[in-house]
Order: sequence, then structure tokens, then C-alpha cells
Amino acid sequence: MSVFPIRWHEEALKLLDQRLLPAEVTEISYDSVAAVADAIRDMVVRGAPAIGITAAFGVVIAARARYAESPDNWRESIGKDLRLLADARPTAINLFWAIERMRGCFDEIEGDPVERLLTEAKTIHKEDIAANKRMGDLGAQLIGAGSNILTHCNAGALATGGYGTALGVIRSAVAAGKVGQVFADETRPWLQGARLTAWELLQDGIPVSLIAEGAASWLMCQGKVQWIVVGSDRIAANGDVANKIGTYQLAVSARYHGLKFMVVAPTSTVDMNIAGGADIPIETRNADELLKCGDKTVAAAGASAWNPVFDVTPAVLVDAIVTEQGVVEKPDAKKILAMMENT
Ligand code: MRU
Repeated sequence: MSVFPIRWHEEALKLLDQRLLPAEVTEISYDSVAAVADAIRDMVVRGAPAIGITAAFGVVIAARARYAESPDNWRESIGKDLRLLADARPTAINLFWAIERMRGCFDEIEGDPVERLLTEAKTIHKEDIAANKRMGDLGAQLIGAGSNILTHCNAGALATGGYGTALGVIRSAVAAGKVGQVFADETRPWLQGARLTAWELLQDGIPVSLIAEGAASWLMCQGKVQWIVVGSDRIAANGDVANKIGTYQLAVSARYHGLKFMVVAPTSTVDMNIAGGADIPIETRNADELLKCGDKTVAAAGASAWNPVFDVTPAVLVDAIVTEQGVVEKPDAKKILAMMENT
């Protein structure tokens, strides 16, 4: 595995700038919490688990500054920094999960908080990679020999601590010799599939064929794919799944064509406080992401655009949810609760 989107080096957070991939492979160094929040909002780093890990290191950076400012009051003054991080993006629950896990350490700290918080952020990062490898093995066991797989967006090493969720399953299934061909949706408008998934798989020598989103149902109809494997930004307590816009239509079409649909996500993506997908906040981004291609306007002057960047797939269309705790087939509220009780 050759791609690492996040690292802590020489007392600063380094993020691979995903806005520039694959043309440029550039890291940016961060030492202020406001800049970390901007990096999440502007999608220097993106993907649910990667956003959470980044926020955890953002809490370390905030605590360092607040403790230097006022050693007796850092717990109070850091509150606004945590809100700044939490406000950066609304849909991926991993962001809020990571901030709360970091906050959970505050009470046990005496004196300078940096060492304890840095250990926690590094642990969150390591645990995410370990969870991805476990999910990779579990998900790959579901894939029949010779299967072709379609994935959407980028749910890979770039979207996580490393290895990936959906792409982790693809990596493990390829290593087991089970995969015929990998297809990736280009994933309009931000092109996570064309720019990131294709780049990341090719770094590992895994061949990939891109398709336009509009080609997905036709690919299924032609019998060219057996599994759809995607990640998630938030899974509700009943198994409804929020993921990149376009995921829902893949699930509808997969069911129509009698194909299998797998969601791969760590338990940090499961939100037991949300009963069903209707309550998951869906981010809407700037219309310019649709009206332009890079800096160039491509839409007719005067056209407006609606740009929701996630959708919700109802649990009934999901064949399997794979977490590091195991595989939940045909998910429902009872099965999700049983899985989460083991965490
Ligand atoms: O807008 P993005 O690129 O942050 O959206 C990312 C996705 O939708 C991924 O599929 C999801 O976060 C799972 S990543 C392991």
C-alpha cells in the first residue's frame, strides 16, 4: 500500500492535497486549528474516516495553542476550536466521533495536554488502518472468484488512515486472485473516481476502467459486473447508508439487475443516535462545482445548479454492511444494534 493521506511529522500535521491529485502530489503542513478546519471544508482531505483522523490531530494543534496561551484554562478556551472543526462538514459522522473521542481524554490530563492527545490521535489513526485491513479480509470473503466490481467515489487509502474501506475489500479480493476487473465511476462533479480512485489503484498496480456515472446501469445490464462495493459517511441505526451522491442510484439499479451491493465502513461511521436515513444531514456544496470544470465555466451562462453531495440508500437495498466487527447481511435495526453492542 503506497498511499498515505495524513501524517504527523516534526510537530505538524501533513496532508496530501487531494484537490491537486493526480496531476501534483503535494503535501501541505498545518499548525493552526483554523487552517485544519479549512482543509477539511475545502477538501484538501476528504472521505469520512480521513476527516475524523484529521480532526483528531486538529484537536492536538488546538490544545497546544490554548495551553501555551493559558495553561489553567485550555479546557474552556478549546471549546470554540472544537466547534470550528465540527462545523467544517456536516455528513460524515466520523468527524464528530473523533472530536468526542479526543474530548473524552480531557478530564484525565494534568498539565500539558499535548503528549496525551497526540497519543490518542495516533491511536485513532492506527486503529482505522487495522479496521480497514480486517474489513478488507471480511469483505473479500463475500466476493466470488472471477467477479468484476464497480466502486463509486473514493473509499480508499486516500479517504481513510490507509488501505481503504471499499478499496480495502478490492485490494484484499485482488490479492486473493478473485477479481476479474475493477470499474470506477468517475464521480461527478468532484471526480473522486477519475482522479483519486484510479490514481490510488494504479499506484498499487491494480488495473481500473473508468465509466461515466450514466454508464453504470448499462454496465450492469451487459453482465459486466457482479458486485457494487462502496464506503459510507454515516450509517443510521436501521442500516440506511449515506454515501457520495450517485450511490443510491447504483443500489436501485443493482437490485433491479439482481446484483450484489456491499457497504464497507468502520463502526465509527455508525450513528446509533439517528434512527433512519431521513435524519442524516446532507451537505449541499457550491453550485460552481457543477457549473465549472476546474476554473473553466462549462455550463450555459445563467444556468443554476443543485449540488447535494451525498444521498441515502435505504437498508433494504443493501446486501451486506461490512465493519471491523463483522458482516451484517440484509441489515436492519436489530442486526445493527447487535453488531454495535460488541464495540
Ligand atoms: O465528499 P467526499 O469526497 O468527502 O465523500 C467521500 C465519500 O462519500 C466516501 O465514499 C465515504 O466517505 C467513504 S470513505 C472510506
